Amino acid sequence: MNTNVAILQSFLQADTEQFLSGEALAMEHGISRVAVNARIRKLGESGLQFEAVPRRGYRIKSKPRRLHTDLLEAHIISQKKPFIESKSVHLLEKTDSTNLEVERRLATGGEAPLVIIAKSQTQGRGRMGRIWHSKDKGNLYLSVGFRPQIPSTALASFSLWAGVRLAQALNKFTSLPIQVKWPNDLYVRDQKFAGILCEAKFELDRMQTLVFGLGMNVNQEAKSLPDDLRAPATTLRDQLGEKADIHTLTLIVLKAVLHGYKDCQQPGAGKRLQQEFIPVDALLGQTVTAQNGSTQTKGTARGIDEDGNLRLKTQTGAILNVSAGDIIFGESI
Ligand code: BTN
Repeated sequence: MNTNVAILQSFLQADTEQFLSGEALAMEHGISRVAVNARIRKLGESGLQFEAVPRRGYRIKSKPRRLHTDLLEAHIISQKKPFIESKSVHLLEKTDSTNLEVERRLATGGEAPLVIIAKSQTQGRGRMGRIWHSKDKGNLYLSVGFRPQIPSTALASFSLWAGVRLAQALNKFTSLPIQVKWPNDLYVRDQKFAGILCEAKFELDRMQTLVFGLGMNVNQEAKSLPDDLRAPATTLRDQLGEKADIHTLTLIVLKAVLHGYKDCQQPGAGKRLQQEFIPVDALLGQTVTAQNGSTQTKGTARGIDEDGNLRLKTQTGAILNVSAGDIIFGESI
């Protein structure tokens, strides 16, 4: 572990209000007080802000709005109940697509679970071949790679499970009313702030690799989002009225995704998903149109079935199960 990470870990493990003296930090990390001072100055130049008070020491005043490599590692190794190792998590300045990067690393023998996060992407991919705009503006572009090597049916509802676990965890962390818009979007107050793209490789019916990708608008201001987006869009920063702690958020997101991966493989998972989906369902009771290729189905959303299909009640009163597609609010497109 590098000394910057170790120093940051000391701050994260201390009370947020607590000052750490230069002397104590020097002793703890086996360096001189002058070296502690120099490292804190350098960390300050890299986006963290420290408060320094004579005879008391230092404490973190504010964290950067963009991801910071040492601070992210310090968060990972400071986990109270560890669920991921820091060697499995890689933060890149830039890549084409984190989903593609995970795929490449898994194809060349990389160990799973494997997490790639990038500060920006040059070819961010959305669902249905769309672009995911991915500028370096304090957002989260993250992919998690798995090697399931089990029949694909066992993971059919994984992305829905991950969505539910994310909505629940983010709701707790931000106190915002976070919902899942079936099948793969995260919404807050009727606006999209995150999308999920899962991609898998199969051999016969076995899923060899599975890549979970998440793009989340975190600390960008909504007014600077591109204006060609299909859904009304927002960012957590706009919804919270202040910057979110993107490092803590990243760990919460990873934990939720890994939980979803386990939960979807448990016996009785379908019934549980159906129930847990209800409180976070952005479509429940809404009149919607499901579009799949040239097929359109209109109806009132009535939750999901045990296989994760969207249930639509049509005008005739019949319930139709929709297994894939885009959902548009309202009766017509
Ligand atoms: C969607 O709503 O269309 C899904 C968007 C998924 C975007 C994320 S960003 C990280 C990962 N890498 C990609 O290229 N896409 C996903």
